This record gives sequence, structure tokens and C-alpha cells, in this order.
Amino acid sequence: MSKYKQLDEKINEALQGGGEKRIESQHKKGKLTARERIHFLLDEGSFQETGMLVQHRSNQFGLEKQKFLGDGVVTGYGRINGRLVYIFSQDFTVFGGSLAEKHAEKIVKIMDLAMKNGAPVIGLNDSGGARIQEGIVSLGGYADIFYRNTLASGVIPQISSIMGPCAGGAVYSPAITDFILMVDNTSHMFVTGPNVVKTVTHEEVTFGELGGAYTHASKSGVCHITSDNEMQAIENIKKLLSYIPQNCEETPRSIDYQLVDSEMVPELDDILPDNDNQPYDMKEVIVKTIDPDTFFEIHKDYAENIVVGFGRLAGKSIGIVANQPASLAGVLDIDASKKGARFVRFCDSFNIPLLVFVDVPGFLPGTDQEWNGIITNGAKLLYAFSEATVARVSVITRKAFGGAYDVMNSKHIGADMNFAWPNASIAVMGPKGAAEIIFRHEIKEAKNPEEKLIEKEAEFTKEFLHPYRGAAHGYIDEVIKPHETRDRLIRAFKMLENKVDKLPKKKHGNIPL
Ligand code: HXC
Repeated sequence: MSKYKQLDEKINEALQGGGEKRIESQHKKGKLTARERIHFLLDEGSFQETGMLVQHRSNQFGLEKQKFLGDGVVTGYGRINGRLVYIFSQDFTVFGGSLAEKHAEKIVKIMDLAMKNGAPVIGLNDSGGARIQEGIVSLGGYADIFYRNTLASGVIPQISSIMGPCAGGAVYSPAITDFILMVDNTSHMFVTGPNVVKTVTHEEVTFGELGGAYTHASKSGVCHITSDNEMQAIENIKKLLSYIPQNCEETPRSIDYQLVDSEMVPELDDILPDNDNQPYDMKEVIVKTIDPDTFFEIHKDYAENIVVGFGRLAGKSIGIVANQPASLAGVLDIDASKKGARFVRFCDSFNIPLLVFVDVPGFLPGTDQEWNGIITNGAKLLYAFSEATVARVSVITRKAFGGAYDVMNSKHIGADMNFAWPNASIAVMGPKGAAEIIFRHEIKEAKNPEEKLIEKEAEFTKEFLHPYRGAAHGYIDEVIKPHETRDRLIRAFKMLENKVDKLPKKKHGNIPL
């Protein structure tokens, strides 16, 4: 056999993965193969494979008779919209995509390259976990990856897309990465599967209920983006990447934007309801303020009382954090604080400016919140904003009450520009609660306590529930009409384009975890 023919044959063998039958079974489950996923994700012709001919070196449990070129993971680099990315894609048709010594080494190699060359790593996970036959070296392989995930955190973006099973300790690699995407029906994540759960806790639960995409998107918050199918997940990875830079030394790519004469948005004047206690959809404020069709929401179904996501303002990438009055009145609770904090820290790590819309009645009261640690968890959001050095701009649309005012990117914790709409009010609490406390005796002794309460509420409202005290103290830089918001934000972020701010020298902070 000629040397060239031998090479061609080897390449051909590697491209077959676990063989036709297993590929067919993969397709029957509604899943693409590892190579098909890479094909659709990367720019055409840009994929350069590494380690195609790698094989395991185990001689136990019959593995010596079963060798597959590539060892169950396709690794390499390529381009997405012209940008360099490193990629690994687990091949379920080879030993169920299970991870062992060589499989892990291939992943480690591209992670090291990604770190040295400052480009994102994308993992497409589809694996039965540790390769049982290879035993402890699989565990070592996982730990090698976890370690690198941790060192790479905040240096290069790391994206995990779960395209099949991801169980046991294997979940901890995606967990350390910046974003987890899952596919409805075909992907699941859990530390222990339904059988173990049944044995230990006697709970009966299906794979989907325990660790499916929707479960993790809505209940646990483990999943940031759910997709109906793999092609949609692949499009979501590309979209996500478009807002983030290659590494922590760079800024995100901008899209050319020609400023128009007037950036006024009259529709913003009609969003707030007449009654301050009525809800409205903050997402409407967001999409009307930023560039059209650029809002990309993250963690959409989790802690809906806070909205986070990426968008563009005059072509520039921004991270948006906003209270959502349409869910739990926009109150801050444990889940909302964790969701907001994680997003703020991601944006700050990768030089993405932060735009914050504030309409918050306070922190959620109750034993459930207190006993589960709203103190520690609420502090996460406070800490995340306080240490963020990127450009930070807030717009208070309505309420900014209590400690939540401080937490939501107030001037005091380092925001650069703070705007308020004329309906905004910064206060220790709402007028009813305030009147009941400070005028308690007067109300109790009045001939008609109810009438007195209403009178005192009105007095408090007149005195405090407007933005002008905040403006007088300089806590608000400008009171603006809603239709002026986009114009002011474009100017503010332009002014802050070259902002440089540094944290005090330290090894690292100690965020309340
Ligand atoms: C070796 C594995 C494997 C594994 C699957 N396979 N998982 N081989 N090690 N962990 C092989 C199967 O033998 C089979 O081989 C092929 O992959 C496809 O598997 P099926 O079971 O036929 O597929 P399916 O019905 O879709 O079920 C997928 C599955 C199931 C749910 C993932 O295979 C499964 O439960 N696997 C074991 C999962 C597990 O317990 N992993 C260890 C977790 S502990 P053939 O030759 O028939 O095609 C762990 C620790 C990590 O991961 C710790 C890190 C710190």
C-alpha cells in the first residue's frame, strides 16, 4: 500500500467515528454527529483538526480489541464569522463519547492553545461520562480539564453546549465555563441520574424532569440558553459570541453605526402605567432603547424578576441588567441576585459596558428568603457591581427603594452616569410602609385612622417620591424624559469609551459565595 493511500485510509477511518450503525442511531435520536456539529458551527472550510489519529492505550475489559481513531472526541480550531475559536466536540458514537486519558489530553491540548493564543473555547458535550473501563485515569482527565477551566475563567470566554448526556462529575466542567446551552429533549445534566435518585431519596423522576433543558433553564439556573434543536443551539452560540471579545485584553467587535440627527424614541413616553403599582414589561423599555433586533436575552426563564442579556447601542456591545416589574414587581430575591451577579461579573471580565434599568421595590421579605441566605446572596449582586470597572450607566425608570437602590448600580458603588425619569423615586421604602411607621401614633390616635393614613401617605409621596431630592444630592446626574433615554445613553457610553479604572492591589477578592 502506498504511504499516501495508508494515510487516506486512516483519515477515512477516523471520519467514520463509531461506524455507520451508531451514526444512524445518533441521527434517530434527533442528534447530529460530533463532526456535523462542527461543520455547521464553523465558517466553511475553516476547521483544522488536531489529534485525529489519537488512540487510547488501555488493555483492560476488552478495550485492547476496540480502538477508534480520535478516541471519542473531535478537537481543533477554526473560525466563526472570521474569528478564531478552539473547539472540542465529543463523539457519542465512540464509547458513548466517554472521557478517558487520551480523550482528556486532546481537550487539554486545545484549551492550552486557546489560553496561549487568547481565543474562546467552545465545548460540544455529548458523553456518557468517565470511561468506565479506563477507571481512575478518566477521573484524572476530568480534573485536568476542570483545573484549566478555572485558570481560563476570566481570561478567555468558555462556552459549553450540552448536546446529549452530561452526568456525574462531568457536569463540573461546563459549570465552570461562562455559558451553558442545552437542547430541549436531547440533552440532560445531573450529578446522579434517576436510578440513583430513586435508590437514595425514593423520588421517581424522569431524565427530563431531573436534568432536562427546561428544568435547568427555569428551576436551577444551570442552563443559560435553551434551544428547540441542535441547529438552533449552534445559531445561539454564534449569536452569543458576536457580543463578546476574544479575551480579557480585547473589547467586543462593534458594528458600524451612523448616528442619526435625532435618537429620540417617542414610544418610550407611553410605557409607564398611570398607577405606580401597576406592572409593565421592562423588556419593552430595553428593546425600544437599544439598536433594533439586537437584544439577546440570557437566563430568560430563570428568576424572571431580573432581566439580563446582551444588546447593541449605536453598534457597540453592551450588557443589560434590568429589574422586571412584570414579575414579582421586580423585587430582588436570592435567584435574581445570583443571576444578576454572575452576568455582571462576566461582562466586567470581558470589557463589556453595563447598562442598568432600575425599577425595584426592595428585597423580597420572608422566612424562605432569610433562611436560604438572601443576605449572602443579595450581597453577591452588590459586590459584583461594586467591583466592576467597565463603563456603568443606570436609568431609574420608577422605584429605587431601600437597599436595592444602593445595590442596583447606584452612584455610590461606582456607576459612572445615573439618569432618572421624572416618575422615578429614590426612597427608603414605599409611601404606605413609610407612613405606617413614622406616623404610627398620629394615625392610631386619629378619629379616622384610614383617612389619616391616606393623608400621611400623600404627604410622604409629595416630599420624597420624585427624583429631585436624588438630583439635588447629585445621586442622579440628570432627570430625563423617557424619549431622551437612547440619546443620553449613546452620549454617555461614547464619553466613557476610554474609561480606565483599577481595583486596589489584591490577590483576589472574597465575594460572598
Ligand atoms: C464506557 C460507555 C459509557 C461509559 C456509554 N458507553 N457510557 N462506555 N464508559 N461511561 C457506551 C455504551 O456501552 C454503548 O456502547 C455506547 O456507549 C452507547 O451507550 P448506550 O447506553 O447504548 O446509549 P444510550 O441508551 O443513549 O444511553 C446513554 C447513557 C448510558 C445514558 C449515557 O450509556 C449510561 O448510563 N452510561 C453510563 C453513564 C455513567 O454511569 N457514567 C459514569 C458516570 S461517573 P456500544 O458499544 O454498545 O455502542 C462519572 C465520573 C466523572 O462520569 C467524575 C469526574 C470527577
